[in-house]
Amino acid sequence: MIKNVGIVGAGQMGCGIAQVAAMAGYKVHLYDIAPDRIEAGLATINGNMARQVSSGKLTEDERKKALTLIKGSADLTDLSPADLVIEAATEDEAIKRKIYVAVCPVLKPDAILATNTSSLSITRLASATDRPERFMGIHFMNPVPVMKLVELVRGIATEEGTFASARQFVTALDKTITVAEDFPAFIVNRILLPMINEAIYTLYEGVGTVDAIDTAMKLGANHPMGPLQLADFIGLDTCLSIMQVLHDGLADSKYRPCPLLVKYVEAGWLGRKSGRGFYDYR
Ligand code: CAA
Repeated sequence: MIKNVGIVGAGQMGCGIAQVAAMAGYKVHLYDIAPDRIEAGLATINGNMARQVSSGKLTEDERKKALTLIKGSADLTDLSPADLVIEAATEDEAIKRKIYVAVCPVLKPDAILATNTSSLSITRLASATDRPERFMGIHFMNPVPVMKLVELVRGIATEEGTFASARQFVTALDKTITVAEDFPAFIVNRILLPMINEAIYTLYEGVGTVDAIDTAMKLGANHPMGPLQLADFIGLDTCLSIMQVLHDGLADSKYRPCPLLVKYVEAGWLGRKSGRGFYDYR
């Protein structure tokens, strides 16, 4: 029975997960190594909830109650009461492995450890933990409070009890589950990222401008955001790392990251979060 939820990483995904978990009544321990990121994350959660109060989707009492359920901390040992810990750190396998080595000794022996990875092998990540049978992928979409879908992914050793607990937790968050097998980038990003990469090739080859490409896909395919706007929203570094996982893992040249995407990431133009990507946010 999951009551206490730990989250590692107070970035946009970690904070989104913290918000929806608290709104569903779970106690949330939001950990980040950087105290200023926790502060900024809690402010974002507060702002999102205040917007929901203004639009009548949440009462002021519900907002206050949910906020009191979230405790930010830069001390890993504060995750010790957690029944489920979701790692939502940057999409870098070495960093994730380091986190698991640090966090496992803190956890209760029967606690479930999950990753919000958007592309990496669950089976390989599980091998860096002391609990591959209680490890799996719980992949939320961005922005977490708005997007209905969560992908659940088992590793080779994931036990059915772990999967059942994760399913129960995600259902309690009022999300819809889709189950993906443990292949590079699972389902959503296996399909979405090559489309975004192709949009970047379309720009790179001069087929259309940023505006022409995004307008084409918004009005011509009814996408809520154009692919270049969406790439900026996801983060160009994340887009690149997912394309690299697809390219390496599936060994097919159709997944080759567009050189323009590589160049933007090398320039530090990472999209919305850095102030510049295909659009200028400064
Ligand atoms: N955090 C929380 N809530 C947000 C938000 C955010 N970042 N951005 C928008 N919202 C909320 C707004 O508050 C608003 O809520 P209410 O209806 O309660 O007022 C609602 O979303 C709609 O927002 P807006 O009217 O301002 O804007 P919009 O209609 O243009 O919608 C959007 C914004 C929901 C982000 C929409 O553009 C959209 O669906 N875009 C595509 C998002 C998408 O494809 N996400 C998946 C990315 S891939 C992924 O996440 C996988 C991965 O691993 C990389």
